[in-house]
Amino acid sequence: MIFKKPKFTLDNDFLKDKLYEDSLLGFNVLKKSDITLNKKELTLFYPGAANDIIRPLLLLDALANFKQATIILADTHLNSNSVLEMMQNLTNIKKFKKKNNSLTFKFKNKEINFVFKECDILKSEIPEFDIYFERAFQLFRKDAKEFIPKIIAKANKDALLISDYLDFKDETLKKINFPKELNYIGFYKKSGVLRKL
Ligand SMILES: C[S@@+](CC[C@H](N)C(=O)[O-])C[C@H]1O[C@@H](n2cnc3c(N)ncnc32)[C@H](O)[C@@H]1O
Repeated sequence: MIFKKPKFTLDNDFLKDKLYEDSLLGFNVLKKSDITLNKKELTLFYPGAANDIIRPLLLLDALANFKQATIILADTHLNSNSVLEMMQNLTNIKKFKKKNNSLTFKFKNKEINFVFKECDILKSEIPEFDIYFERAFQLFRKDAKEFIPKIIAKANKDALLISDYLDFKDETLKKINFPKELNYIGFYKKSGVLRKL
């Protein structure tokens, strides 16, 4: 079954200013691929995110047909003000709701909720998710042997796990063919996509 892919309007000039051209190409190729996630309400979990909100938004745009998305950014150091400023520049939407550790934006007919988890994620509880994304995080997690099994256990059915250093596998995860340009999105260029069965 082919699902229609959604459209957001992100400020192209701002994107070009913030991302390399080949990285943008990687997202565009992903958008045209048949990798999709058809869920109206979903959660994207991004450990070691720093203040990178552009890539999770581009991933949602490329992959998911949703109405409401929660993006959980986990890092030992997070700055919700810089996320807010970035989101306003990217979308030209100035209105948002701020609540404790979250920021909510209405975006066309979609709602995007950023949740900030400022913690050592290797020692913290992992949330359930539909999309897992990591970039330039392998160095930090490589000695925490229990981290990836904890991640796999929290993946919802059909969840997509996307990493730029795909060194994990499990019998509950299926490797997905992905466009080689996806490597441009990453830092380590060992990208891969898995689907939770
Ligand atoms: C190399 S940066 C990558 C940032 C972002 N993913 C990107 O691609 O631009 C790695 C990030 O992981 C965070 N980090 C390292 N160890 C962590 C831990 N145990 N828990 C949460 N975040 C961690 C660092 O604070 C840093 O922001």
